[in-house]
Amino acid sequence: MLMNKAETVLVNSPPRRWLQRFYEVPMLLRFGGRLLPAARALEIGCGSGYGSQLVLERFGAASVDAVDLDPVMIERAGRRLARFGDRVRLVQGSATDLRAALGAEDGGYDAVFDFAIVHHIPHWRAAVAEVARVLAPGGRFYFEEVTAHALARPTYQRLFDHPSEDRFTAEQFLDELARHGLVVLGSTTRICGDYLLGVAAKPVPAGSDQ
Ligand SMILES: C[S@@+](CC[C@H](N)C(=O)[O-])C[C@H]1O[C@@H](n2cnc3c(N)ncnc32)[C@H](O)[C@@H]1O
Repeated sequence: MLMNKAETVLVNSPPRRWLQRFYEVPMLLRFGGRLLPAARALEIGCGSGYGSQLVLERFGAASVDAVDLDPVMIERAGRRLARFGDRVRLVQGSATDLRAALGAEDGGYDAVFDFAIVHHIPHWRAAVAEVARVLAPGGRFYFEEVTAHALARPTYQRLFDHPSEDRFTAEQFLDELARHGLVVLGSTTRICGDYLLGVAAKPVPAGSDQ
């Protein structure tokens, strides 16, 4: 589901950008560390591209593919990320079918980033399944999510548009990661369980020389 006007303004506001850069990113780095120099990253629901900029500058990805359902966001991201040249590929499409959107192969990415997007997806479990599929063994999933607890608040209900059925608590989101074989390296909730931040890894199969 696309963002409405109020959410677009809030998400792209200077305070949110400040929080993302100086609070969320350091916490995600504490849980999951920086990427290896040749790492290929994917950002799902990239919005106007600020997250992808951080993935390159702060997490140290070599390249980032970024997908968003909203063509207007992809255009904005294109303007923001133009200076990174061919290190960035931007595609309009859905995080629930990354093969259709990006031709993403199984195990094609060393890291996947989710800056507050999975709660926008009606079939959110399909997006989690795709994240697990496209991660390489040893790869990491960095996530920041908004839970059912936050979405049920009157302010959220009044101001923003989100799917109303089958939203997830922090525990349900973490359980879904585990169901797809991802191992949580660290996670935390904030503001009475409204927000969930964490990093999960796709295990390297036993006996592999990776
Ligand atoms: C709350 S915004 C977050 C944007 C960006 N990650 C950020 O932090 O600024 C959610 C984004 O998810 C996108 N989105 C919603 N459903 C999607 C889907 N199925 N696949 C990809 N992107 C989706 C929206 O268009 C929107 O840009």
